[in-house]
Amino acid sequence: MRSFVIGGNWKMQILKVDEAVKAAKAIADAINGLDLTGVDVFIAPSFNALYSVGQAIKGSKLKLAAQNMYFRDNGAFTGEISPDSLLDAGCTYVLLGHSERRRIFNEDDAYINQKVKKALEKGLKPVLCIGETAKERAQGKTDEVNKTQLAGSLADVLPEQMKNVVIAYEPVWAINNKFLNPDTEIKTATPEQAEEAHIFIRKWLVEKYGQEIGGVVPIQYGGSMNAANSAGLLKIVDINGGLIGGASLKAADFKPIIEAAMGNK
Ligand code: PGA
Repeated sequence: MRSFVIGGNWKMQILKVDEAVKAAKAIADAINGLDLTGVDVFIAPSFNALYSVGQAIKGSKLKLAAQNMYFRDNGAFTGEISPDSLLDAGCTYVLLGHSERRRIFNEDDAYINQKVKKALEKGLKPVLCIGETAKERAQGKTDEVNKTQLAGSLADVLPEQMKNVVIAYEPVWAINNKFLNPDTEIKTATPEQAEEAHIFIRKWLVEKYGQEIGGVVPIQYGGSMNAANSAGLLKIVDINGGLIGGASLKAADFKPIIEAAMGNK
């Protein structure tokens, strides 16, 4: 049976705690009746709402993720958040190396690698985001960029630890973000484009960690995934889920994507 991870990346879109709690509860209620064997579902709210959302979805089928974290346990690090705080809020997953972090906040692979290793040490599952820009794709550098980001962000991660890692392939040009893509038309990768990249990533994972481990690390697709295009993407063998921004904010938009994964188990 194939297994999937479907994640909602709420970014900085739901600003108030009560609104986040309401949206999270609506999703939890919408999926609780579903048979989610083999499909993990999470949402990643803003930090201000993390604990309250965690409390609100406790005992439901919906899991909690954070959008970022720092790689130290505690101390004088103004503006940062500790992995222990994420665990206290009830997080299972943490997004790391999202292209918005890489491109807007200048995070590089060495820095992301420290976070990946810390998350694993703490028992959080890192969702490592990678992906090329429109320019890099046009220059024929897609594979090279993905390979560099994988190798750098996963440096010194042991095969055993890879069982707790999720990769999110998110071509930057497909992410619904005008700030990152000021001059290009934002469009979802075609199933063929996504498949090509996912096959490359799978091959890299298998070469590095062996078939038994590298063959089963979930690889999510991200970038304008929605109810209309998710079924076509999720039926591809090496697409093992989705990281969804805009279409994860409302239960009515998010649920059909989860159901599309269920239909492909
Ligand atoms: P989007 O965002 O679905 O709104 O394009 C995806 C992401 O950035 O994770």
